[in-house]
Amino acid sequence: MSTTFQLDTATSRANPTPAPMKRLTVPALRKRKVDGVTAEPIVMLTAYTARQAQLLDAHCDLLLVGDSLGQVIYGLPSSVPVTLDMMAAHGAAVVRGSYHAVVVVDMPFGSYEQSPAQAFANASRLLKETGCAGVKLEGGEAMAETVAFLVQRGVPVIGHVGLTPQAVNVLGGYNSRGRDAAEAKKIVADAVALDRAGAFAVVVEGVVEPIAVEVTRALACPTIGIGGSAQCDGQVLVTEDMLGMFERVPRFVKRYAEVGEVISDAVARYAADVRARTFPGIEQTYQPR
Ligand code: KIV
Repeated sequence: MSTTFQLDTATSRANPTPAPMKRLTVPALRKRKVDGVTAEPIVMLTAYTARQAQLLDAHCDLLLVGDSLGQVIYGLPSSVPVTLDMMAAHGAAVVRGSYHAVVVVDMPFGSYEQSPAQAFANASRLLKETGCAGVKLEGGEAMAETVAFLVQRGVPVIGHVGLTPQAVNVLGGYNSRGRDAAEAKKIVADAVALDRAGAFAVVVEGVVEPIAVEVTRALACPTIGIGGSAQCDGQVLVTEDMLGMFERVPRFVKRYAEVGEVISDAVARYAADVRARTFPGIEQTYQPR
């Protein structure tokens, strides 16, 4: 199934804010890091729907249509079963709901690992069908050739090292990475390889803090931490995690709200009103004129 959408990102029809800002660009974000220093950290959150993008857009530099949508939206056990069709549909929705942040769409497992040509075919589909500005893919040294291939052909790429959730079957779980010297060295080498290949940023996930700091110092491009360090050049979280939509979240998540409780309370009151026949009331019903 192909999901082609008419993009309407030039107008604010789907957006409650009256004056659309000019969208940030990948080169502008890349240039935030000058000689190893990022004066203004990059703010990134995941977004999967148009309405969510509308609410996050003004506050974020980057919106990531993460393949974490597999678990968060679809209730899948991991991101492994996520398809390119899912990413295209949600990517297009997020682009339609935003006008300021750079939108990057995750390449799902199986859509880029086979060859640089496979990666280009699928990344270009995401750019064409969603209007996103770039893609993110997991893996380090093994993906460097692919990253260079994409960047040289007009596809901006964010790399992703450390805890790489698509590799859960190889890693055996979602535990933090880099606890022994060999693994730590490999994570740094992976990140350096992606930087040299032309990635415009690298997500560093679930690593012991000194590795996130070392990688941030070693890379010319910005690092974006998630379970990394406050010294990374930016931070990303899964929005539903930081909003308190789930009971269990990883240790690195700070809960900024308890939206799950707010929803549950509201629905309980609605259910009580329906059962008591106190909803709909006079304000919510059409009366004869
Ligand atoms: O899929 C995702 O949401 C991600 C971020 C957590 C970095 O890759």
